[in-house]
Amino acid sequence: MKKNLIQDTAHLLLSKHITKDDIIVDATMGNGHDTLFLANLAKKVYAFDIQQQALQETKKRLDQAYITNVELILDTHEKINHYVSNIKGVVFNLGYLPNADKTITTTKDSTINALHQILPNLKPNDFVLLVVYIRHQEGQIESESLQSYLSKLNPTLYKILKIELPYQTNQPPYIIFIQKEKDEG
Ligand SMILES: C[S@@+](CC[C@H](N)C(=O)[O-])C[C@H]1O[C@@H](n2cnc3c(N)ncnc32)[C@H](O)[C@@H]1O
Repeated sequence: MKKNLIQDTAHLLLSKHITKDDIIVDATMGNGHDTLFLANLAKKVYAFDIQQQALQETKKRLDQAYITNVELILDTHEKINHYVSNIKGVVFNLGYLPNADKTITTTKDSTINALHQILPNLKPNDFVLLVVYIRHQEGQIESESLQSYLSKLNPTLYKILKIELPYQTNQPPYIIFIQKEKDEG
């Protein structure tokens, strides 16, 4: 299979931070590639998507791998707190479902609303990882809003790592890894 440096690095980071005691959320299930990867690392995975097609594809993928520790939820990631608590980490792979309707995509509002709900409830060493795509117009807008939102987070509560591929001409995706450092005061 062709190597994807950003996706592989995201998975490397996740494998360093997730153990078999952890509850993990896949905030953008899509075709279930990340859901399957996370299910093999974590105790339990809750995967969200707003498209029924994503749930069907992911269920097929998980069934083929005999995975049973995943709950698939047809709802927006803005409602993660309604379904899950004691979360160790949340993973976002932003954008649209490949080979499907490109107008159904994550947006600056849904992504930032979700982060706004999730971040205050994280405990020290919990994390959020985002893979951000900037090649499509909504992705550009989302990326700019995300950078602005992240720049305003309290740096003593959150450490933010950004991993990108500079010097490329094709606007590749980049990774944001947010680690909670302290409980909210
Ligand atoms: C790039 S795809 C995810 C790829 C997936 N991680 C994989 O491994 O196949 C982004 C997904 O986010 C979903 N999405 C868009 N807005 C959403 C929202 N508000 N809540 C949950 N999922 C959303 C889309 O339907 C799409 O399936």
